[in-house]
Amino acid sequence: MKIAVLSRDERHLIELSRQLRARPGSDEVDMIAGTPARLATMADEAAPDLLIVDAPRADEGELDQLERLGHLFPRMAFIVLSEDLSQDFLLRAMRAGVREVLAARPAPAELVAAVDHVAEKFGSQGAAQGRVLAFISCKGGSGATFLATNLAYALSAGGAKRVALIDMNLQFGDASLFVSDSKPLATLSDVATQIHRLDPSFLSSSMVSVTPNFSVLAAPSDPAHASDVKPEHIDAIIKLARRQYDFIVLDVGRSLDPVSIRALDHADTIYPVLQTTLPYIRDGKRLLTVFRNLEYGNDKVELIVNRHDNNSDIRLKDLEEAFDTTHLRTMPNHYDAAAKSVNQGVPVTRLAPDSQLSMALMTMARSLTGEAEPVQAAGMMARLFKRRKSDK
Ligand SMILES: Nc1ncnc2c1ncn2[C@@H]1O[C@H](COP(=O)(O)OP(=O)(O)OP(=O)(O)O)[C@@H](O)[C@H]1O
Ligand SMILES: [Mg+2]
Repeated sequence: MKIAVLSRDERHLIELSRQLRARPGSDEVDMIAGTPARLATMADEAAPDLLIVDAPRADEGELDQLERLGHLFPRMAFIVLSEDLSQDFLLRAMRAGVREVLAARPAPAELVAAVDHVAEKFGSQGAAQGRVLAFISCKGGSGATFLATNLAYALSAGGAKRVALIDMNLQFGDASLFVSDSKPLATLSDVATQIHRLDPSFLSSSMVSVTPNFSVLAAPSDPAHASDVKPEHIDAIIKLARRQYDFIVLDVGRSLDPVSIRALDHADTIYPVLQTTLPYIRDGKRLLTVFRNLEYGNDKVELIVNRHDNNSDIRLKDLEEAFDTTHLRTMPNHYDAAAKSVNQGVPVTRLAPDSQLSMALMTMARSLTGEAEPVQAAGMMARLFKRRKSDK
C-alpha cells in the first residue's frame, strides 16, 4: 500500500515514518512536510492509498482541504492525528471523509492497528477501475454512435453496473439523443472550461441521467466550442470517470485529432465500426495502420461489422481475410428497429428486445459484464405451468 504522511513538524514526520516502515508488509511510505494545501495539485499517479495527516487545523480550513482532496481522489483513505478530540472536531473530520482520528502522539501499536484496518479495506476493494471502451467509425454513418449508445445502455440494463457514455464528436455530436429526449444542461466543453471544478458531483451533474446507473456527457452544442476541449481535459475526465463508473463508453466519431487520439490512448478496447462494402473496408484498413503506428496492440482493437447481412456480396470470410483475423464480431442489420429507436430516442434493446440486433447487443454486453443471461420469464412460467399440470 502507498502511504503518505503529512506534517508541519519535521521531527514528528520522521518518527511517524519510522513507525510505519516497521509495519510488516511492503508499504511505500512518503514523508511530506507541509499542510493539505500542498497536495491539491498532486498528479493522480502520485496519490497515496492512505494519507496520514498530522494535526490539521480546522480553523485554518484544513479539514475543508481534506474534503476537497477526498473528492479529487475518492479511493484515498485518511487518518488524522489530532490534539483536539472534541465532538465537534470529530464530526467535522468524519464529514471530510476521514476514516479514523487518533490522538496527536499515538502509541506505535495504535497507529499500526489503524493502518492495518485501512489496508484490510483496501485489499478487499482492490484498485477497481472502470473499463474504457471506444467506438470509432471507419467511415461516416457506419453506426458507431448507434452501437456505442445502445451497448452502453445494455451494459447498464442489469442494474449492477454504473455506465457513463462520453460523446467525443466535438463538432456535431448527437449521442445523447439516441437514448434520451432530455436536453443536456451541460456538455463536454462546459466541463473542460471549468476543469478546476472537476470532482464526482460536478461530473455527474454535468451529465444527462438516462437511468439511475447510466448517464451521458453530451458533446458541445455549438461546434464553435469544440476548441475548448484539450487532450489534458480528456485525461482528467477519464481518470475521474474510471473511479466512478464500471464502464466508460466513448463515442469517438470519425475524426483523428489530438483530442480523439488522447481518448483512444486511454481505451482498454477500441471498436472500429465498419460495414460490408469496399469503401468501409478501405478506410478500415487505413485506420488499423494508424493504430499500428500509435503502437496499439492487436488485443486492444476489435473490429465490429455492423449491419451484417449473410446475403451480402462480400462474405464475412472475405472480410476476415482482408483484415487478417479469424474472428470478426458482427451486428445484424435491422433497419426498422434501428430507425424506430433512433427516431424515438429510446434504446433498441428496450424498444424491440426480441430483435436479432437487440440480442446481439445484449450478448456483447454480457460478455463484458460477465452477467448471466436472465431466465426467460415466459419460459419459466411455462415450466411452472407444466409442473402444476403434472402435479395433478
Ligand atoms: N445494425 C443496424 N441495423 C440497421 N440500421 C442501423 C444499424 N446500426 C445503425 N443503423 C442506422 O444507421 C444510422 C447511422 O448510424 P450512426 O449515426 O450511429 O452512424 P455513425 O457511424 O455514428 O455516423 P457519423 O459518422 O455521422 O457519426 C442510424 O440512424 C441507425 O438507424
Ligand atoms: Mg456518430
